[in-house]
Amino acid sequence: MNDNPEILFPVIMKVPADERLPRGKEQVRTLSRLARQAARVSAEKSGLALSGFPKNDDGAPIPAHGIHWSISHKTDYVSGVVATGSVGIDIERMRKVSCAIMEYIADDQEWRLIGGKAPVAFFRFWTAKEAVLKAMGVGFTGLSHCRILQVIDDGCLAAGYDKKHFIVHQRWFTRDHIAAITGPAMKKDRSIQWTFI
Ligand SMILES: CC(C)(COP(=O)(O)OP(=O)(O)OC[C@H]1O[C@@H](n2cnc3c(N)ncnc32)[C@H](O)[C@@H]1OP(=O)(O)O)[C@@H](O)C(=O)NCCC(=O)NCCS
Repeated sequence: MNDNPEILFPVIMKVPADERLPRGKEQVRTLSRLARQAARVSAEKSGLALSGFPKNDDGAPIPAHGIHWSISHKTDYVSGVVATGSVGIDIERMRKVSCAIMEYIADDQEWRLIGGKAPVAFFRFWTAKEAVLKAMGVGFTGLSHCRILQVIDDGCLAAGYDKKHFIVHQRWFTRDHIAAITGPAMKKDRSIQWTFI
């Protein structure tokens, strides 16, 4: 039970071997269900009553009785988080990416903040921006509104969405997976208690 609403409890769950399916709609449904399971664990740890997973007509999560939720699902891991304010979570597996995608995700000014284009930097920027877009309730169409403003340290970035300011907390897990979490009210010293199951 969480006595302190300043603490967030994102949950990352390994996809169980018996739930692994070939790529396709069935796999997405399974991962989507497992990510909701992770969000329920986050709700339990946070002491928040999550009554469901409502969405708007664009498919963006909306709060259930004041409880905000966000999920992310990838082939091997899923994640979920709940909070009393808007929140966005994203996980990715680091892999090879083309220079064109790097240029698409950030401009030269942003790349200079992190010492230039490199795979680790790319996945930090990518997950940070996806988390911001989710916290804003917009999909990837909002990308051009989102900028990296500062690389604070290895686990923290500042980003902007138009005039809104976001602190994004990041965490590498396994050799090649990264998670990012943010919300407009998040501070650098906000405590994030990651759970891995
Ligand atoms: C939200 C978005 C940014 C996340 O996409 P993603 O990384 O592909 O997928 P994730 O597993 O991390 O997240 C999926 C979850 O995001 C949530 N989501 C969907 N639209 C959302 C939105 N507008 N705002 C906030 N969350 C959203 C949903 O809960 C979804 O899971 P569900 O369908 O099981 O409920 C997605 O809407 C999007 O726009 N994807 C397009 C990605 C793309 O075009 N990539 C190409 C880049 S070159």
